Amino acid sequence: MDESDISFFKDGLRLDGRRADQLRPIKIEVGVLARADGSCYIEMGGNKVIAAVYGPREVHPRHLQEITRAIVRYRYNMASFSVEERKRPGPDRRSHELSKVSREALEPVILTSFFPRSVIDVFVEVLQADAGTRTAGINAAAVALADAGIPMKSMISSCAAGKVEDTIVLDPMKEEDNFGQADLPIAMTPNGDITLMQMDGNLTPDEFHGAVEMAMKGARDIYELQRKALVDKYSKMVEKTGQEEVHACD
Ligand code: CDP
Repeated sequence: MDESDISFFKDGLRLDGRRADQLRPIKIEVGVLARADGSCYIEMGGNKVIAAVYGPREVHPRHLQEITRAIVRYRYNMASFSVEERKRPGPDRRSHELSKVSREALEPVILTSFFPRSVIDVFVEVLQADAGTRTAGINAAAVALADAGIPMKSMISSCAAGKVEDTIVLDPMKEEDNFGQADLPIAMTPNGDITLMQMDGNLTPDEFHGAVEMAMKGARDIYELQRKALVDKYSKMVEKTGQEEVHACD
């Protein structure tokens, strides 16, 4: 099957009923894992991804220590059951690439110089995949880092734009990603500083600018949801602590 076998639009809407510039529904939960220092569960359309952060903690093996800063490790892993055709467990070329680019997307905002000789470990587990797992993983990881109390210059938000039937679309789902003409994931700070940009397929210069603009708008909307998820969790905690203090005074 190739692109010509699929019709990506019906009555001007995409296969899942979205407009071209619309994100899939997003759900973000903070602090879902008791044993991690910080964690986040995210659903972006059909993607279900969990991120766990450990650290800053001592580096093992010790020869990896950096005397002026913490090192950041990021492991992206796709569960065997996350895709239609069972994925062979364990690392492969794709997961190595995604781990590297995702780490590089987050590292610029982490204040690693605060924690010399230590490591910050980020584990991202894809439980269900539907295109855009790297962007979902980065969004979850950034929230998990904040939840772990890791000092950061800013949040990082990530979103892709793609091209199907010569139309630029936001946040491609699997059919659009696998059989479309282009895919362009980005990650950025709320100020618009881009920390990840990848592209496959073909885009004209105008389409490229349109796709970047659309992905940046998507990332900005995702930032608001990340922020809200963190504020919700911590305001509830503050409320609870306040109530406990009141009871203690009773
Ligand atoms: O997930 P992301 O878009 O970041 O990465 P991709 O390599 O462009 O993969 C796109 C989608 O293809 C994934 O999200 C999965 O839905 C699917 N895929 C798959 O079914 N089996 C694989 N071994 C890898 C990807």
